[in-house]
Amino acid sequence: LDDPAADPFAVARDAAARIAELTGVERHDVALTLGSGWGAAAGLIGETTHTIPADEVPGFSKPALEGHVGTLRSVALPDGRRALVIGARTHYYEGHGVRRVVHSVRTAAATGAKTMILTNGAGGIKEHWTPGTPVLISDHINLTADSPLEGATFVDLTDLYSARLRGIAKGIDPSLDEGVYVQFRGPHYETPAEVQMAKAIGGHIVGMSTALEAIAARQAGMEVLGMSLITNLAAGIQTTPLSHEEVIEAGRTAETKISDLLAKVVAAI
Ligand code: 6GU
Repeated sequence: LDDPAADPFAVARDAAARIAELTGVERHDVALTLGSGWGAAAGLIGETTHTIPADEVPGFSKPALEGHVGTLRSVALPDGRRALVIGARTHYYEGHGVRRVVHSVRTAAATGAKTMILTNGAGGIKEHWTPGTPVLISDHINLTADSPLEGATFVDLTDLYSARLRGIAKGIDPSLDEGVYVQFRGPHYETPAEVQMAKAIGGHIVGMSTALEAIAARQAGMEVLGMSLITNLAAGIQTTPLSHEEVIEAGRTAETKISDLLAKVVAAI
């Protein structure tokens, strides 16, 4: 993937072939990327039949960050569908390029998945979102100044975060709020002034993932559901300093509740 002459879609097809070989599962129906706080969902949606260390699959590498498990799991849902659970997210701030960031999404598409569920832990701009609140992503603003699309690939992003899938999620939890996710490059959190900018341009959630992945999922023709766990309020909205430990801790506390919600959503789509 680091070779500019390499075809990232060919690497994704190789990765999907390797997953099929290791699992004996020819196609997956739905894929989920589990971010901070969402990890328990894998065990609730069905029975994990195979856990693959990500570095055994072409294009994936070991993640550096604690709290992010580097595995791909094949999960058998009770209704017979198959889920590919991606616990190996490469963040843009790791500096390996956008091809690596979206490789798991392209691999999921190559395994046959028609639905891509992207989850993350993120900062909230709305004061009433206490830590532990799950929020549906309604749209995004990509502030990375990058794109997973190369060359003259013009892709429409209207209704990128499927209104149909958001409707299904709200049918399960009518209290679910929605918001516009703003992807910053990170890895530093935003300054209070940057958070005010994000708010002024229409953002409600700040994070360091998801938008680039959602673009790649749309390019691949997948239907996208995005959900953020608000782990803290953004800088300047909350008065105390932000810490990675706080983010991990909020994820742990909310994990059972939001993973249960996500499992119900997966069963319903
Ligand atoms: Cl406040 N900002 C960003 N970019 N990512 C986060 C966050 C804030 N809180 C959790 N993840």
